[in-house]
Amino acid sequence: MTNSNTKPATGKLGIMVVGLGAVSTTFITGVMMTRKGLTKPVGSMTQYDKIRIGRGAEKKYLHYKDIVPIADLNDIEFAAWDVYPVNAYESAISANVLKEKDIEPVKDELLKIKPLKAAFDKNYAKRLDGDNIMHGATRWEMVEKLRADIRNFKQEKGVDRVVVLWAASTEIYVAPDMKYHGTIEALEAAMKADVKEQIAPSMCYAYAALKEDCPFVMGAPNTTVDIPAMWDLAEETKVPIAGKDFKTGQTLVKSGFAPIIGTRCLGLSGWFSTNILGNRDGLVLDEPANFRTKEVSKLSTLESILVEDEQPDLYTNYFHKVRINYYPPRDDNKEGWDNIDIFGWMGYPMQIKINFLCRDSILAAPLCLDLCLLIDLAHRAGRYGTQRFLSFFLKSPMHDYTKDEVPVNHLFQQYVMLKNAIREMGGYEADEEID
Ligand SMILES: NC(=O)c1ccc[n+]([C@@H]2O[C@H](COP(=O)([O-])OP(=O)(O)OC[C@H]3O[C@@H](n4cnc5c(N)ncnc54)[C@H](O)[C@@H]3O)[C@@H](O)[C@H]2O)c1
Repeated sequence: MTNSNTKPATGKLGIMVVGLGAVSTTFITGVMMTRKGLTKPVGSMTQYDKIRIGRGAEKKYLHYKDIVPIADLNDIEFAAWDVYPVNAYESAISANVLKEKDIEPVKDELLKIKPLKAAFDKNYAKRLDGDNIMHGATRWEMVEKLRADIRNFKQEKGVDRVVVLWAASTEIYVAPDMKYHGTIEALEAAMKADVKEQIAPSMCYAYAALKEDCPFVMGAPNTTVDIPAMWDLAEETKVPIAGKDFKTGQTLVKSGFAPIIGTRCLGLSGWFSTNILGNRDGLVLDEPANFRTKEVSKLSTLESILVEDEQPDLYTNYFHKVRINYYPPRDDNKEGWDNIDIFGWMGYPMQIKINFLCRDSILAAPLCLDLCLLIDLAHRAGRYGTQRFLSFFLKSPMHDYTKDEVPVNHLFQQYVMLKNAIREMGGYEADEEID
């Protein structure tokens, strides 16, 4: 390693997951099975990818852990909050993502993860009715209880650092409103006044995490940390934040495929994405107000890759539609269809069809691991505020919309940002050489 100022990953890393459903249990089980040498963490950049450092004759391709100090999987301790009182073992079984043979060997460890009481408001996810919640708590009381949970976890498990990861259900859409979300003071006042409509429970988790010096990752499309008050709080507390919405299936394909159209200067007249999904996530998203949050997130990808203002002949007024349909027989095995209407030389139309038969949580689990390990790294490297280099993993990357900043959605530009951040945190020069 070089003259990096990044602190080493000594001691234990606590990962506190909000939501102990399909994604979280697949993630946690996979980490535990990997530690025992019983499986491989396929899809995880931090465990597999190699980055070039140096140039010319000096160049070398190294795993992330050989460039920067990444926490070891053996040093991770898990905890979770959930609306349902079910432990991680039972939840993994009922999520029906992993086969029993891939869960049983770590049963004892999973049984020990019993969800803490959730900061929850049924109005934010009407289809959930669990009782493991902080009954009657105001938003400010939720914050205080969550802060106490984080401190207790640290103490009980002897954990040195904690990352809080939201892998809970998508909440109903909360539009940013500067009266409540514009400044730290406004946010705190709204929490204390228990303004339920503008302060989502997820905001209580994020606020509590930042106040406890814990990086926060938003894996759903919720507004939560994507408001000026939270950006300011992350700057003030010097804690990194990242969001929103894991970029797993259809949007991963979109952000990787749209550059093909853009790079070849082909035109686009329409892109229709639809999918069927039968897990609890699909059930929650079947509620129009919850789907709205997802739709905003999913729609944002294309417009910043195929930009009308830059190529009016090619990208004016293309029709972009995203649909999610709850279809129980498929459980977690989502099937996505993309129909892309493009046009070529002299405007002649063509079509591309993509049919992705994916497994939602299998795609999301490595992202959970990478986001947690990398945001912990960023914290130790002294980075804070929105971590743009993590956009690679996210559908709707946070950006300062109050200043008309444009997010980077192009998968390969995001990858350059990721690699350069790793290089810099390892004490190497950022560059844009072709690998
Ligand atoms: N799997 C993917 O490919 C993918 C991609 C992008 C985003 N996501 C998002 O990840 C999240 C998790 O997905 P999943 O399939 O695991 O869903 P899930 O329904 O299986 O699990 C979510 C859990 O969160 C709990 N929960 C809801 N509100 C809570 C609160 N306020 N506090 C604590 N717990 C709460 C629910 O009780 C549930 O057990 C969803 O928001 C989903 O949209 C998933």
